[in-house]
Amino acid sequence: MPDTVFVLNGPNLNLLGTREPEIYGSATLDDIAGMLEDRARELGLEIDLRQSNHEGHLVDWLHEAQAVGAKAVLLNAGAFTHTSIALHDAIKAIRTPVIEVHLSNPHTREAFRHRSYVGMAAKATIAGFGPMSYLLALEGAHRL
Ligand code: DQA
Repeated sequence: MPDTVFVLNGPNLNLLGTREPEIYGSATLDDIAGMLEDRARELGLEIDLRQSNHEGHLVDWLHEAQAVGAKAVLLNAGAFTHTSIALHDAIKAIRTPVIEVHLSNPHTREAFRHRSYVGMAAKATIAGFGPMSYLLALEGAHRL
C-alpha cells in the first residue's frame, strides 16, 4: 500500500481558474490534482485531494488523516488560515505532519492575511509559487 498524502483545500478554492486569476492564476483545482497525481505516482505516493467551504469538514479531515495513517497533509485552508483557531487546534491535536500551502504569498497582501493560525501550528509553509506551491509541498512531504 503506497503512503497517502491528504491535500485539503478550504473555502473558494473550488473556484480556482476563474477566481481572481490575476492573483491565483488560471489553473483549476482539477488541474492541480492532475499535477499532484502525476508527481505522486513517480514518488510512489497516493493523493487524496478534497475541498470544502466548511470549516468543520477540514477539522474532520485532519482527524481522519491521522486515523488512517496518512503520511502528511498539505493544507490550503484559504481564508480560514487567518481566522480559525479550530484548525490550529486540530493540527496540534494530530501527530500527522501538516504543511501549509498557499498559491499567493499572503505576506505581500492585505494586513489581515499576515496572521496565519495554520502556520503557527504547521510543520512548514510553502507560499507564493502558484500551483507549484502544492508540488513543492509534496516534495517536502515525500522527504519527511
Ligand atoms: C490563499 C490565500 C488566502 O489568504 C486566501 O484567503 C485564499 C487563498 C492562497 O492559496 O493564496 O483563499 O490560501
